[in-house]
Amino acid sequence: MKKQRYFQLTQDAVTKLAENYGTPLLVLSLEQIEKNYNFMREQLPQVKIHYAMKANPDLRILETLAEMGSCFDVASDGEIRTLAELGISGDRLIYANPIKTGSGLKACNDSGVYRMTFDSEAEIKKIAAACPGATVLLRLRIDNAKAHVDLNKKFGAPADKALSLLKAAKEAGLDAAGIAFHVGSQTVVADPYLEALDLVRSIYEQGAKEGMKFRVLDIGGGWPIPEPRVRFNLAEMMAQIKARLDEDFPDTEIWAEPGRYMCGTAVNLITSVIGVNERNGQTWYFLDDGIYGSFSGVIFDQWDFKLISFKNSGKKHQATFAGPSCDSLDIMFRGKMTEELEIGDLLLVPLCGAYTSASATTFNGFHKAQIVVWEEVREQLKLRLAKAV
Ligand SMILES: Cc1ncc(COP(=O)(O)O)c(C=O)c1O
Repeated sequence: MKKQRYFQLTQDAVTKLAENYGTPLLVLSLEQIEKNYNFMREQLPQVKIHYAMKANPDLRILETLAEMGSCFDVASDGEIRTLAELGISGDRLIYANPIKTGSGLKACNDSGVYRMTFDSEAEIKKIAAACPGATVLLRLRIDNAKAHVDLNKKFGAPADKALSLLKAAKEAGLDAAGIAFHVGSQTVVADPYLEALDLVRSIYEQGAKEGMKFRVLDIGGGWPIPEPRVRFNLAEMMAQIKARLDEDFPDTEIWAEPGRYMCGTAVNLITSVIGVNERNGQTWYFLDDGIYGSFSGVIFDQWDFKLISFKNSGKKHQATFAGPSCDSLDIMFRGKMTEELEIGDLLLVPLCGAYTSASATTFNGFHKAQIVVWEEVREQLKLRLAKAV
């Protein structure tokens, strides 16, 4: 079974990149983005990929994926307009935010976006008034207690309301094409997808009995990236989902909205230790990137980032890691095992591409981490290829 690999810088590259560009620095591999796209295409050939650009809206990622033929999942007028400015036509977009703004619907009309999701009567009225005839998918609520980030607490209609809402959409003149779901971000087993597919199949069968034929199914995002202490086999997971789609939805157009999966493995962060302190018997390390910068996933996603110091003393101790701002919320990790560090030491944080720079702020006047493209800087600095882990 094919194994997914990911981008990780060598110690030499980390040192030279920090010398040349300073820290905090995000290093983006567009080759890794291409690999991720191709891997998903190979594993799920029947799926039309819509990159969920909220995970990382870097223009170079968008351009790379657009060139490869990807479609896009957007959530706002800003995202729609960004893609329009890149020359990506509206028919490649799905406006997959179940609650839309007036400016979002206007941007749809301006850019030719006609595919969207909804999960309430109120939204049907809004869409029918602003974008008559739009193709709509009902966002179904999926109960997945195992999801790392459960989006179903906020969105999705219950299964017993699905058909009546789709009928109401049709009666309002919309093209009620099917169902969309999101099993929750960083889902590491196939089961929640398979359970969701069972649910959708029963709704589609019931719909057929009542004269409603659905032609589209959107299986959403949620696809995982490696994380500390979690084991999963992505190829196996995708193979199980593919088999079920082949069996139960052979004549249905299948869409997916991967976000984290597409960009998470393609970026490394290089951050420096800028302060050291002993407080109440605990060692504290202060870094030049923090919760308000690239590490917001610690709060938003309860994400545990791996820190690589390249030290091999064999002696590790527990320490607290905090960001550079003056806010006491700006603490990333407590009790994290680490080698002893000094001011000026560099830390490499792999798997830093999703929901990192996308939500970074300049709180307290700290600048966001600069982003460089690995395939450009490695030539200039004559660096060895990054390690494929
Ligand atoms: C509607 C929708 N689709 C796709 C995604 C991307 O999810 P993930 O990054 O887990 O693949 C999200 C994430 O919030 C979402 O809300």
